[in-house]
Amino acid sequence: MQTKPEIIRLSEVDSTNRYAMNNFDALADGTLVAAEFQTAGKGRQDRTWVSPPRENIYATFVMKNIAPPVCNASIIASLGALKMLRDAAPGVKFWIKWPNDIYCEFKKIAGILCESRLPSGIVAGIGININMPQSTLDAIDQPATSLLAETGRKFDLQSAVDALADALRGYYADYSKSPRPLFKLWKQENLLIGKPVEIIDAGQKTLQGRIVDIGESGEIFFETGGKTLKLYSGDIRIRKESLDETVLREH
Ligand code: BTN
Repeated sequence: MQTKPEIIRLSEVDSTNRYAMNNFDALADGTLVAAEFQTAGKGRQDRTWVSPPRENIYATFVMKNIAPPVCNASIIASLGALKMLRDAAPGVKFWIKWPNDIYCEFKKIAGILCESRLPSGIVAGIGININMPQSTLDAIDQPATSLLAETGRKFDLQSAVDALADALRGYYADYSKSPRPLFKLWKQENLLIGKPVEIIDAGQKTLQGRIVDIGESGEIFFETGGKTLKLYSGDIRIRKESLDETVLREH
């Protein structure tokens, strides 16, 4: 028999995604697995996710009734992380960078790694930098920030995890009733649509162009060299000079 959805709080684990995948059958739909420390946090494209003890949120949301493509889970996870961050720091501007990072101006504050569990399950791993100090952020290989760095104050991690679980469950329920409005909202929060950017595609080739749109399977339509490509994954590099900073500030 399935238990009720809950928050499973671990003091230490290799990776909350690995834990959720390994224990998938025993976990109830809508469970959030959160750890204080990950010894082998995983990022997208086989990267490591820096996971020092008791500084940040490392959590995985278990969805047992969601049809692939994986982008469906990304929508729920990124909107959930965005809501948690906006509620915690109302004066700070956050936005979604395709496919599912949360940025604060030009710095990454949260990343999401979804993994499928066929036939209809997905686990969405969410890392959110909460109390990470500037010295650790500076050692990350891409511009990164945390709630502490943005606001100058420390946040209670347990309440932050509770708030994330509420936001994720709310969007999961909304999505299960009617996916379209959530897709529209997610698309609105992707501020790079229409902007010139550089993309490193799955084959590690760098392409310069413009994102024209995002399709319903989460793919971007990317105009480059007179063609429009459909890309399902890749890394976007923002060209600072081409992205008007006021767009982010006024959002
Ligand atoms: C990215 O590369 O942007 C995705 C990072 C995802 C990190 C989170 S932390 C919780 C969960 N467990 C993991 O091992 N990874 C995800």
